[in-house]
Amino acid sequence: MRRHKINWKVPKGAELTELDKKVLYYQDRGHLVPTRQLIKTPEQIEGIRRSGVINTGVLDLVEKEIHAGMSTADIDKMVYEYTKDHGAIPACLGYEGFPKSCCTSINEVVCHGIPNEEEILEEGDIINVDCTTILDGYYADASRMFIIGKTTPQKEKLVRVAKECLEIGMEAAKPYSFVGDIGHAIEKHAKKNGFSVVRDLCGHGVGLEFHEEPDVEHFGKKGTGMLLVPGMVFTIEPMINMGTWEVFIDEEDGWTVVTEDELPSAQWEHTFVMTEQGLEILTH
Ligand code: MF3
Ligand code: CO
Ligand code: CO
Repeated sequence: MRRHKINWKVPKGAELTELDKKVLYYQDRGHLVPTRQLIKTPEQIEGIRRSGVINTGVLDLVEKEIHAGMSTADIDKMVYEYTKDHGAIPACLGYEGFPKSCCTSINEVVCHGIPNEEEILEEGDIINVDCTTILDGYYADASRMFIIGKTTPQKEKLVRVAKECLEIGMEAAKPYSFVGDIGHAIEKHAKKNGFSVVRDLCGHGVGLEFHEEPDVEHFGKKGTGMLLVPGMVFTIEPMINMGTWEVFIDEEDGWTVVTEDELPSAQWEHTFVMTEQGLEILTH
């Protein structure tokens, strides 16, 4: 069995809590478990939840206003202004040099598309708008797909199946299950529908920083990857492609991720907290 780092440490002399006993059970059997830092306190979870309320408000506004003929820069402006007006900060702006407040990814763009004055939404486009909000230092990260007017049945199916992949991944994430259980369920559903799962980008822990441990891959094997413990906060954000799973990064801007075969891609994302009862969405 593969050995992992001993992440779960019990302070010398401390009495074992019920949580310690459960996590140690898995760690002792060779599983990767979270560090204590990844288990958020109730206060931190409340902070991320409040950030999530603003994040949802941003995406609701985009949903209401998005239409053919507007530019992706117009979307960015709405995201920036709504976020600022609510006392929060758009996490994307300036993140590792990213120049805008959200990502706008149209058709064959998988993710990390940069909003642009010259990029105009057209009838039949499918677009992902991905926003991350910082409120009082707490991060909430979510994205949705929007269909501009009427699109083809295949693109409509892609958008629907990508959303189902997120829902199915969410259901697979039971307390004391594994990150690999999520990926396995998502990959199965995508393949069943004739689509593929992007492998180069993944979901992630979130909350006190933009990207925390663990990586949440959207493919994989049941019973592998990090143990999911109540108090962990992370995203699931499957990127589902109509054709090949392979992608490349636009050399010119260094950000835009595009499908290798230039067929469309769709993605939905939520931030979740693991509870004793299963996942709870913090971004709706
Ligand atoms: N919001 C993206 C995610 O889901 C990350 C965007 S990073 C940016 O993790 F710099 F491109 F904005
Ligand atoms: Co994310
Ligand atoms: Co995101």
